[in-house]
Amino acid sequence: MHRRTRQVAVALAIAGALLVGGCAEDKSTATSGGGDNTETPAGGGDGGGDGAKLYSSTCAACHGKDALGMPNLGKDLTTSEFAIGLSDADLVAFLKKGRDTSDPANTTGVAMPPKGGNPALSDSDLESIVTYLRTLEK
Ligand code: HEC
Repeated sequence: MHRRTRQVAVALAIAGALLVGGCAEDKSTATSGGGDNTETPAGGGDGGGDGAKLYSSTCAACHGKDALGMPNLGKDLTTSEFAIGLSDADLVAFLKKGRDTSDPANTTGVAMPPKGGNPALSDSDLESIVTYLRTLEK
């Protein structure tokens, strides 16, 4: 009788541990999957992971998955002397403004939209993207 109770308790403990482990795993996959379509929640931190996610959802369409640029779209950002030469704060300021085709600095005749065309990006989102871009620069 006593022994049985203990076995049940142990079994419950194991099941509980498995459940907790399983939930934690589900949560992390759900977060990374959903993150591509939804805005990052406030207070998500400035980690490079966020920057990579935001980059791929907002910037990769024009600048390529690895920021190597796309023909007739965004420029290569890994070798951009312009980006490399700017401080992080100045690069964030540039991203907020973009570079319209009317800007004399525009070389492609294609516009770089403010915030990459995603007005929902906050300053700290843009900082995360810059932090991520710094890891790609050559
Ligand atoms: C709709 C396409 C598009 C999107 C989306 C886009 N860009 Fe751009 N981006 C461009 C184009 C086109 C240029 C080049 C403009 C020119 O001719 O000077 C550019 C230029 C830049 C430059 C300057 C590069 C240089 O060497 O002059 C940076 C930095 C940059 N983009 C970063 C980003 C980031 C970061 C994002 C995401 C937040 C982003 N872009 C989203 C099209 C885009």
